[in-house]
Amino acid sequence: MFKNDLEVTLHKASADQMKPKPDQDNLGFGQFFTDHMFTMRWDRQHGWHDASIQPYQAFNLDPAAMVLHYGQAIFEGMKAYRGKDDQIFLFRPDDNFTRMNQSAVRMCMPRFPQDRVLQALRAMVYLDQEWVPRTAGATLYIRPTMIATEPALGLRPAEEYLFFIINCPVGAYYAEGFNPTRIYVEDKYVRAMPGGVGNAKTAGNYAASVRAQVEAQEKGYTQVLWLDAVERRYIEEVGTSNIFFLIEDELITPPLEGTILPGITRDSVLQLARDFGYRVSERRLTIDEVIAAWKAGTLRESFGTGTAAVIAPVGELCYKDTHIEINGGVTGELSQRLYDELQAIQFGYREDPYKWRVRVG
Ligand code: COI
Repeated sequence: MFKNDLEVTLHKASADQMKPKPDQDNLGFGQFFTDHMFTMRWDRQHGWHDASIQPYQAFNLDPAAMVLHYGQAIFEGMKAYRGKDDQIFLFRPDDNFTRMNQSAVRMCMPRFPQDRVLQALRAMVYLDQEWVPRTAGATLYIRPTMIATEPALGLRPAEEYLFFIINCPVGAYYAEGFNPTRIYVEDKYVRAMPGGVGNAKTAGNYAASVRAQVEAQEKGYTQVLWLDAVERRYIEEVGTSNIFFLIEDELITPPLEGTILPGITRDSVLQLARDFGYRVSERRLTIDEVIAAWKAGTLRESFGTGTAAVIAPVGELCYKDTHIEINGGVTGELSQRLYDELQAIQFGYREDPYKWRVRVG
């Protein structure tokens, strides 16, 4: 149960707490943070309380805070877009908050009142509106996070939590920008197993993936493509995104069976591709089927989807000794069309028949 009376107080940053804005042409990803942040706390007695928009600042965290020991941490990734007529939009923010509450349930953390938090987020983005980039393709990345703060070392759900949102202006996630990435099909490490936490956006999933990413990068690849943990055959997802393959006229992405993240961009792409008239399948797909399609000349395109990555075309897959070049290593027609359509909706340059956009201000 939530108390509906969660009050959000506003403490504006003073002139000397405001930071210089970064060069919008060299934003990179996640390096600069805006002037304000949102925080609220939870404990058993008060539920969610002490909600405020305040100047961006460091936290005080007890060294025994349970997140530091047992990893109760969940987060989301969403964006604000500055588009037509200087309007600012969020994209499907309710879906991100619903997914975050699903992650909370899986990680034995308290659910939060989505409406109130969305209201606070809109207010904060409005307050920091000058941080929303004006350069093409650049956005304000939004990172809602929840961590266990109770100082205690017995293993159990914590009884105190901090929820916060920080925002940062970003450019493209990958150094490649929208150019095709090179992906290494991981056959040594696994990301998630049935019954595990693969479908929760919890920090540990990302920590556990870094070793594979580092080794793939040492071999010259951008990211890894995960295979299932049981048979090591079924395609799951890429390090930071969901994955799609266009084989003949069928657009295929792995189904949501508990081991992959239910991506909001993934869901949007499924909708768009259906409306483009493609045959769209959420079904299991083995790496052998991908290789067979490549050998038969029917593997036409592949791309990753994610909030940070948007649509990231795959130009090459490496699986053991097989190097699979996709669409001659260049961005495919469908990847381009989906990217253009999605961005046009997100930035407000197209009609939004799906009601995905939420205006700020
Ligand atoms: C996102 O796409 O928003 C994510 O959370 C992925 C992260 C590795 C940047």
